Formats: sequence, C-alpha cells, structure tokens
Amino acid sequence: MTQIKNICCIGAGYVGGPTMAVIAQKCPEINVTVVDLNEQRIADWNDDDLDKLPIYEPGLKEVVAEARGRNLFFSTDVDKAIDNAEMIFISVNTPTKTYGKGKGMAADLKYIELCARQIARVSKTDKIVIEKSTLPVRTAEALRSILDNTSSGVKFQILSSPEFLAEGTAVDDLQNADRVLIGGDQTPEGLEAMQALTDIYAHWLPKERILQTNVWSSELSKLTANAFLAQRVSSINSLSALCEKTEANIEEVSRAIGADSRIGSKFLKSSVGFGGSCFQKDILNLVYICQSLGLKEVADYWEQVIIMNDYQKHRFADNIIKTLYNTVSGKKIAFLGWAFKKDTNDTRETAAMYVADILMEDRATIVVYDPKVKYEQMFADVDYLNTRTEKENKELLKPQTDPYEACKDVHAIAILTEWDEFKGYDWQKIYDHMMKPAFVFDGRNVLDGEKLEKIGFKYYGIGK
Ligand code: NAD
Ligand code: UGA
Repeated sequence: MTQIKNICCIGAGYVGGPTMAVIAQKCPEINVTVVDLNEQRIADWNDDDLDKLPIYEPGLKEVVAEARGRNLFFSTDVDKAIDNAEMIFISVNTPTKTYGKGKGMAADLKYIELCARQIARVSKTDKIVIEKSTLPVRTAEALRSILDNTSSGVKFQILSSPEFLAEGTAVDDLQNADRVLIGGDQTPEGLEAMQALTDIYAHWLPKERILQTNVWSSELSKLTANAFLAQRVSSINSLSALCEKTEANIEEVSRAIGADSRIGSKFLKSSVGFGGSCFQKDILNLVYICQSLGLKEVADYWEQVIIMNDYQKHRFADNIIKTLYNTVSGKKIAFLGWAFKKDTNDTRETAAMYVADILMEDRATIVVYDPKVKYEQMFADVDYLNTRTEKENKELLKPQTDPYEACKDVHAIAILTEWDEFKGYDWQKIYDHMMKPAFVFDGRNVLDGEKLEKIGFKYYGIGK
C-alpha cells in the first residue's frame, strides 16, 4: 500500500491554495508543497503579513497560519516538489480557449498538458496523479497517454478528484464537504490509489461522504454539477423578468418554489447574473463536448443557461439606461461591489464588468467601491473586454476606497455584489448627497427597498 508522506500540488490558485492548506491542516504528518510558475503568487503565499495572501477567503489566513512552515510549503521549484512527492495534484487553470478549434467554448488544456509532460520528465518513482482542475470528460485518457509515453518507466495512477468548493466559503466547504469525489481505474492498482486519497480525506470527513466512481463519471459529474447550479440561477433569473411584468415578486416566488423539499431553497437567489471563473466556462465546455459528440439538442439545452445569463446582465444595464431617461451620457453612476460574489476578491467573469462596459459605452462615468478588489484589477477587467482604449477606460472608470464618497453626486447607485456591509450603511446620508431623483438598482436584492423608498430613493430590485 502506497504510504503518502509528501504531496505536491501544481497550481497555487483559488483551488490549489485553500485545498492544500486544509489538507495540510488536517494531515499534519504529510508534507504538502504547493508550487506555481507565478513567482509573485508564491511570494504572496509566503508573506509574513497574512493579510497579503493572494486570495481572500474567510478563515483562510488562520488555516495558513497553523500549517505554513510546519507541513505546508509554497514554492516555485516545481521539479523538486514533483520529484519528492508520492501524490501530485494538478490544480492549474483550464480557461475557455481563445484561439483555434473550439475557440470560445472548449477548455484550454495546454496548462494541463505542460504539467503532465513535466511530471513525466521529472519523476523517478511511481506516483499517483490527481486531476483537481475541472476537465472535459475523458481528459484522463490524454494524461495517461502523455505520462506513459514520455516517462522513463515510472508507473502512474491517474485519479479524478474534482473540487466542489465555492469561493467565499472555500474553507468551510473544504472542512465540511458534502462529498468528495474520487474517480479511478477499477484495477487493483487503481483501487489502491483511490484508497490512498480516500485515507487523506478520511482524516476529517466521514467515509460515507467520500464517493468512489470510475474516472469518466467523476470528470463528467464536476462539469454537470456546475451546469445544474448555474441552471437554477438562470431559471430563477428568467422568472425575474416575468415578475417585473406581472407584479409577482421574485423573492416570494423563490421562497414558495424552494419550500418544496424536492426543489430545495438553495441557488434560487435572483441576481444581475452569475459570474465567476467556472459556471460559464464549464457550461461552454459541456456544450462543446455535446456538439462534438453530435448531441445537438443536448448542447442547445445547456447553452440556453448561458444565453439567459447574458440576457440578465444586459437587461439590468438597459433598465438603468431606460430609467435614467434613456441617457446616461455624462452621468455618474456608483457601483457598490465589483467581485463576482461576496467574500472574495475574485472578479473573473463578474457581472459588474459587463454592466459597466455597457454603461461606459453610453459614456456614463462609473465610480466603483468594492471592499476587497484592487483598483488595478477593475481596470484590467474593463480593458480585457477591449471595447475602448485604456485612456478612455481610465476617464470613465473611477475606483473609490470610501463608499460614501463613491455615492456622492451620482445619479444612481447600482449594487453588483451582495457584500453584507452595504446593508449597514447610513442610507439617509447617502441620499442627502446624491443627485435627485436618487435611483438605486439593486442587482442582488440585498437592500431593504421599502426602507429606501421611505427615505426618498427610487428603488429597483431584480424581479420586483
Ligand atoms: P487559478 O488561475 O486561480 O490558479 C491556477 C494556477 O496555476 C495559477 O496560479 C497558474 O500560475 C498556475 N499554473 C498554470 N500552469 C502551471 C504550470 N505548468 N506549473 C505551475 N503552475 C501553473 O485557477 P483556479 O481558480 O484555482 O482553478 C483551477 C482549476 O480548478 C480550474 O480547472 C477550475 O475550473 C477548477 N475549479 C475552480 C474553482 C474556483 O472556485 N476557483 C472551484 C472548483 C474547481
Ligand atoms: C461554483 C460552485 O458553487 C462550486 O461548487 C464549484 O466548485 C465552483 O463553481 C467551481 O467549479 O469553480 P463559485 O463560482 O465560486 O462556485 O460561486 P457560487 O456560489 O456558485 O456562485 C456563482 C455565481 O452565481 C455568483 O456570481 C453568485 O452570485 C451567483 N449566484 C449564486 C446567484 O446569482 N444566485 C444564487 O442563488 C447563487
């Protein structure tokens, strides 16, 4: 039976960092080394000042403080960490392809392939290689081919163990996971490798929450779990448009639907649209796989989840323009929140950047306050969309570190992230310093609309 003493994780991002921190915390007898090509990221993970960790997650700095230097290490020496480890997690990014075949839909697997080639080149002893990144079904086949054909006789067992953590709750999701999925070959060696990984998670999770499947089921379950979650958000968002036309209230509808235990109440919160690095990417990937396999109807079915999400972001921006008398040119609009959800500094695919882009195209000035997102990131996000020059973006996007300053003299406030602190603001003070009529467009339904209307605001929630 393989004795795991050293783990290597390639990729020190939103998944690799927190996941390995928790494994190290829960398995003090195992050395866990997280490696990355990005030197700055590794330096930030090693920073003495735990507020400078590259990722903001509630509870993360406490876990890192406990394990770092004891059995948790962050390094740029990828070869050494691979060589030392009996078990290697691949946790690198798998973004949507921006070029060539499958552009705009398929997952870009170049980082995965580079890892496989590096593992094969460096390894001198047998290893268990675990797909932690989210991958198209049957990627393990390609990994196996690369590893078996480019290594020097070393034996590899490939497991799929996709990560289900959500940003903002990553530490809790890892420590109290609903389930851990481990897919492996149904051979004696495959089963032994699955057991080795099961034993790690069994340090803190009950055995019945550790599900073993074949590799393909595991790979596919990850993509489809995200597709199901995103589908719920698009379903409720589609109904929000209907509510706005009929005087039904989306929150009441959501509560009524979710009270049915067969449906359940989670992921029924209507919003300006889902963001994040994974929902869109994974569904596009699923659509691409279905198309490639000739399953047109299945592909079309899932693509509609994305179409609905794009519609929701546009609907929100268009409603702001329409309500502000069909012109936002020269007007200032405050954005409260830029991150794709609360309790994270991640802005990948955030609805905020798409809504800002539409309003900036109409020459509005956007003043943004977010408690955790840095200025440079906001500029990078709007530049990424490539709609205007960098100079124009700098003129139209004005980050602010003080929320009250951000809301001063603006024609409207738009809530793009559901940060808890927004609820506790002195809304009377904000009202007093705004242009009148004072509009609030609550893209997250976090504020008390009735209270704001009493102050004098014109309040627009989603689906209300
Ligand atoms: P990320 O971009 O935050 O981190 C990936 C890291 O991998 C980067 O720091 C990058 O520099 C590094 N990297 C890339 N190629 C490398 C190489 N060859 N050698 C060393 N380092 C390399 O990405 P992430 O959000 O952590 O996502 C990673 C994977 O996990 C993706 O497949 C994603 O779909 C999946 N996932 C993400 C989440 C999430 O909440 N972010 C949750 C579950 C699953
Ligand atoms: C999601 C999944 O929840 C994780 O299980 C998965 O591991 C991860 O993707 C991944 O593969 O990356 P994440 O994207 O971090 O996690 O965050 P979610 O909580 O799922 O939220 C995604 C988006 O949907 C956010 O913009 C959020 O605001 C939005 N959302 C979520 C809603 O608009 N309404 C809801 O009811 C729930």
